[in-house]
Amino acid sequence: MNRSFDLRSDTITRPSAGMRSAMADAEVGDDVYGEDPTVNRLQEMGAALLGKEASLFVSSGSMGNLIPIFLNCGRGGELLTHERSHILHYELGSLAAIAGAMPVAVPGRRGILREQELASRLRPAAYHLPQTRMVEVENTHNLEGGNFYRLEELEEVSAFAKKHALSMHMDGARLFNAAIASGVAAERLASLADTVTFCLSKGLGAPVGSLLCGSAEFIAEARRVRKLLGGGMRQVGVLAAAGIYALEHNIDRLAEDHEHARRIAGALAETRWAALDPNEITTNIIFFSTPGHPASRVVEALAQRGVRASTMGESSVRMVTSLEVSGSDTEEVCGIIRGLAL
Ligand SMILES: Cc1ncc(COP(=O)(O)O)c(C=O)c1O
Repeated sequence: MNRSFDLRSDTITRPSAGMRSAMADAEVGDDVYGEDPTVNRLQEMGAALLGKEASLFVSSGSMGNLIPIFLNCGRGGELLTHERSHILHYELGSLAAIAGAMPVAVPGRRGILREQELASRLRPAAYHLPQTRMVEVENTHNLEGGNFYRLEELEEVSAFAKKHALSMHMDGARLFNAAIASGVAAERLASLADTVTFCLSKGLGAPVGSLLCGSAEFIAEARRVRKLLGGGMRQVGVLAAAGIYALEHNIDRLAEDHEHARRIAGALAETRWAALDPNEITTNIIFFSTPGHPASRVVEALAQRGVRASTMGESSVRMVTSLEVSGSDTEEVCGIIRGLAL
């Protein structure tokens, strides 16, 4: 059978043998009682990595984004977020449906929020106007091709939030990709936001889970909201063990995913059916447009040759590298791309 290369997402990563064995050996307890030693260890590790007082193991990145909005935006409060952010497009409107927040979509080149655009959407203090309460940044930015915040850009948003007493949340589903690409430690990036969520279940290779990080006081409240949302988990150390393994083994190797994405982007740029600027591919996500063909046609043709990608609208395709795609797989994928004439 011909081999197939799955580039649809980095969420398709499967636990390795080492990770599975760590899961099998995990010591567990009832985490709603706070008695799962493996969960407690993972939460301590996550907080320490990001230089925050505490962290909370949650079922998904979506829950890790929803809880801080629930706690810090307030019903009817406004949240400034990029117009193509994950919380706006892919979290089923939970910020409005559950947290009661009013999202304000802010434009920004390649996913980056700038002070000027934010400032023009800030509400003046007036009793008849909704009030701006929060700003949310996505780092790296999924729909903007995995683009990451440069340190000074993040400092700008952080200073704006502080100046206007807004709570700042970072959707760092791929925070470690951002840290590697920017050359700035995850801890430094995290220090610029009040709360940060990062996912264990994407490039880090764990089967499930995210960590929501913040102050001890915030995390104590977050724990209550997690329970409110039905997210209290019991002997969940079996999953936390996968998270610990991911943090111990799979952070540094994300650099390989970036290199593979860069090579694939280079191959795509050589074809007639894909248009992109390979210099813009700096992490593990590649977006390209498909001049002359519907995206679905390109995705189908690639799939027939064993390369799986995602259609992202009429004429846009996404590919994501991960630990499921090795260096030699990347070479094969590049060969298939170069050989595809449409
Ligand atoms: C940028 C970003 N934020 C949040 C999420 C949500 O993560 P989950 O699927 O675990 O809810 C994703 C998932 O793809 C994402 O790409």
